[in-house]
Amino acid sequence: MSLPGNANRDNFGSKFGILAAAAGSAVGLGNVWKFPYVTGQNGGGAFLLIYLACVLLLGVSVMLSEFSIGRRGQRNVFGSFKSLAPNTPWYFAGIMGVVAAFVILSFYSAVAGWTLEYIVHSVDGSFHSGEPLSNAFNNFITHPVRPILWQLVFMALTALIVVGGVKNGIEKYNKILMPLLVIFLLILCVRAITLPNSVEGLKFLFTPDFSKITAKTVLFAMGQAFFSLSLGMGALITYSSYFKKTENLGITAINVSIADTVIAVLSGVVIFPAVFAFHIEPSAGPSLVFITLPEIFRQMPLGSIFGFIFFALLAVAALTSTVSLLEVVVAYFSEEFKITRKKSIIITIIFASILGVFASLSFGPLSSVLIFKKSIFDLLDFVASNVLLPLGGLLIVIFVGWYMTKRDVRDEVSNGGTLNVPFFPYFRFIVRFIAPVAIAAIFIYSIFYGSLG
Ligand code: TRP
Repeated sequence: MSLPGNANRDNFGSKFGILAAAAGSAVGLGNVWKFPYVTGQNGGGAFLLIYLACVLLLGVSVMLSEFSIGRRGQRNVFGSFKSLAPNTPWYFAGIMGVVAAFVILSFYSAVAGWTLEYIVHSVDGSFHSGEPLSNAFNNFITHPVRPILWQLVFMALTALIVVGGVKNGIEKYNKILMPLLVIFLLILCVRAITLPNSVEGLKFLFTPDFSKITAKTVLFAMGQAFFSLSLGMGALITYSSYFKKTENLGITAINVSIADTVIAVLSGVVIFPAVFAFHIEPSAGPSLVFITLPEIFRQMPLGSIFGFIFFALLAVAALTSTVSLLEVVVAYFSEEFKITRKKSIIITIIFASILGVFASLSFGPLSSVLIFKKSIFDLLDFVASNVLLPLGGLLIVIFVGWYMTKRDVRDEVSNGGTLNVPFFPYFRFIVRFIAPVAIAAIFIYSIFYGSLG
């Protein structure tokens, strides 16, 4: 029998709410900002193919592992490990998750704040002012105050959603924001593929050039898949602790992974035709979205409207992700230290903002502060994405594959034997053997070779 649910905890109210929230966590800057530019830098179609294989072979199984831990544990990420493995050091994996969520929240909110500035810029005519857009971007991110103000606004928006709780905050807003995001994205897709020369962009995205593939590309695709699916630090453990006991975890993991991947690919469908239509290099890197695209909006009829929609899309995608990051930390503090959610939100937001401000300033006034040859922003990103996430992911799959009994995992995945789970042997094989080796490879590689990027 599965363990009884905890009646005092807030829970998601509907299947759609669960899908919207989990997909909301997964769909973020990773999909709309990072996926297109890493695809652009790594040869287009070939990278896409490997990325798809990583999601299918590894991502879905690791996600199902997180769901199994969270829903069985019925607590925050730290508490879930404690309740499933009492009197063992496994809770350490939970602490790492909380730290990772806190760190990601702090630097992710800096870039998320930029999207708000760009929403304003797309309608106030700044793209048309004649100032080169790369200057505008550099002036903005190196400014000592503006990016920080937007970052704090973004933190406040995140807090306002999380303060409502699971059903009346996280679920309610994701149910509105995720459909809105899909509508924005579809509008932009139609615009992009009706641009002259759009076929070139689609060809770039969908025609694999295998000569571009190296071991590094494979590891990079795997890392990107983990980050994009929100795996490795218990965001999905925390969310799934609020899932109903009747929710089909396997189907949910598949649906969330499909939604995340489709949205990443559609972001590519928006960006590459536009890039090729205006004869711009697809490999611009991180500035692709903030310099290259505004250039396109400047030249396009009704560009202000499409620019507004694009940056609103980016902001919404980021917001539903920061909500999931904040919830990891808030659930931990409120449940383990018995303080109210409100208090834990305030404390977390204050400290994440302080660290976040340093991350923001490291583009400008603090750009000369280098730690291990990295700026503060890059260091936080590196520690979280290249150390804490793979390590957390490794512990999660080892926990589900080797620590939990086969019976318990099967019980959780099949809702106490009431669901058919024909995929179970396959899932178990991946979690026990393939995933630990693959994740260890990413981890070792990224430690020795620095950032994979
Ligand atoms: N998946 C989000 C993105 O693609 C970012 C994110 C949210 C995340 N929560 C996470 C990444 C937890 C890793 C772990 O932008």
